[in-house]
Amino acid sequence: MSRVDKGRQARRDFGLIDQAGVADVLADPTGRDEIWIEVIRKMDEVYSDLVHYQLELEEKNTALEEAQNFISSVLASMTDVLIVCDADGKVERANLAAELFTGRAEPLLRGDALADLFTADSAERINHFLACIRADKPVADEEISLIDHRGQPAPLSVNCSARYDHDGRLVGMVLIGRPVGELRRAYEDLDRTHQELTKTQRHLAFSEKMAALGRLVAGVAHELNNPISFVFGNMYALKNYGEHLKGYLQAMDDGADAETLREMRDAHKIDRILKDLTPLVDGTLEGAERVSEIVQDLRRFSSSQEEQPEALDVVKEIHTATRWVVKSARVKPEILFDMPDEMRILGRKGAINQIVVNLVQNAVDIVADVDDPTIEIACSRDSTDVWVRVRDNGPGVSEDDRGRVFEPFFTTKPIGEGTGLGLYVSYGLAEEQDGRLICENDADFGGAAFTLRLPYLGEC
Ligand SMILES: Nc1ncnc2c1ncn2[C@@H]1O[C@H](COP(=O)(O)OP(=O)(O)O)[C@@H](O)[C@H]1O
Ligand SMILES: [Mg+2]
Repeated sequence: MSRVDKGRQARRDFGLIDQAGVADVLADPTGRDEIWIEVIRKMDEVYSDLVHYQLELEEKNTALEEAQNFISSVLASMTDVLIVCDADGKVERANLAAELFTGRAEPLLRGDALADLFTADSAERINHFLACIRADKPVADEEISLIDHRGQPAPLSVNCSARYDHDGRLVGMVLIGRPVGELRRAYEDLDRTHQELTKTQRHLAFSEKMAALGRLVAGVAHELNNPISFVFGNMYALKNYGEHLKGYLQAMDDGADAETLREMRDAHKIDRILKDLTPLVDGTLEGAERVSEIVQDLRRFSSSQEEQPEALDVVKEIHTATRWVVKSARVKPEILFDMPDEMRILGRKGAINQIVVNLVQNAVDIVADVDDPTIEIACSRDSTDVWVRVRDNGPGVSEDDRGRVFEPFFTTKPIGEGTGLGLYVSYGLAEEQDGRLICENDADFGGAAFTLRLPYLGEC
């Protein structure tokens, strides 16, 4: 019914107008009816205002209800625990997550001490948080344990903030806690997987090293052959000299006369033997040291230990690695060096050796089928980087393969000849030293050019 209809109805109720709505007050000449009409008009106005206010109230009520529903739905959808308490730490409200965690409905939580919901250690901290809030100090990212519905401690990462009333007076504290149990479990899983992956990767790198070593055996054996035969030769000579010296000394012991001794001295070439002794021993020692050096290089190459940077001559390392590879190669390419005589740097010997072996081995493999197989190895440094480049006159790396050569198990070699791990492992070794390994095709040289860049850690 509209406001006008309601007013008309009221006037009918007072008998001031007939059913047709015609006012019989017009027939009243005394004017008393006019007052009545005024009263009724006022009532009509008041009534319509009332109706208007009621409508407004209803609208506001609906809006309030909607807002409350909205807040409740937000609180209910929160996965974080939310508990509101008064200034004394008594629970006033709790969201669904808090109910599910504690296994108690909100009405049952209300009025309980907030601290009682937590484990004994954490309860003390809750009281401390309340004191902080009273002292206007924030509480952020604190880890405490709620007692869950099974009576078990459930770790939460909590933030607490102060709650004020309209007049800005402190009326309590709001605690929001994020369950970290799941998070921690997920983190532990991730950490375990990462550790396993690192172990597998180390294993892979080691296997690749062993495979490379297998291919290098011929070169290394050749390398060892020289000093060992040198040592053998010298030892035979020393043994022979020993026999002569023994005979001469025996004659002396037996009291031979001076003439006989001089004759024996000439016959046994004692003077020459004595002159030869020192260089022979020195040469033997040198040969033994060379053997020991090669064994050390090999041991470093095949070591699975993580190594620390040490003082080294990168040029010497390149020469050693190249010699090993080329000596064991079926087709011996021409090797050009573009390097200074020496370049002392701080670096990881074993890693640098392994990378160079891989790069030179790949170059040697790829040029085996080309005319005039040639490999150039260059090494230099500027103020920030040390770089080693190995380029060859092979077919180069195709556009498609360039993005894949560093992938594990990518190989274009026949089964049994390639592991597809050399470049993958070398890339990882370069990265571990904060360096890079770059693959390009070299227009000048014709084939691929692999450049290892390492940060220059200083001369030594
Ligand atoms: N110098 C090079 N020229 C052309 N292709 C190369 C060269 N070096 C590496 N490659 C390509 O990269 C692939 C992966 O090399 P690598 O990881 O050392 O494994 P593998 O030598 O066992 O194949 C090789 O199979 C080859 O296709
Ligand atoms: Mg290889």
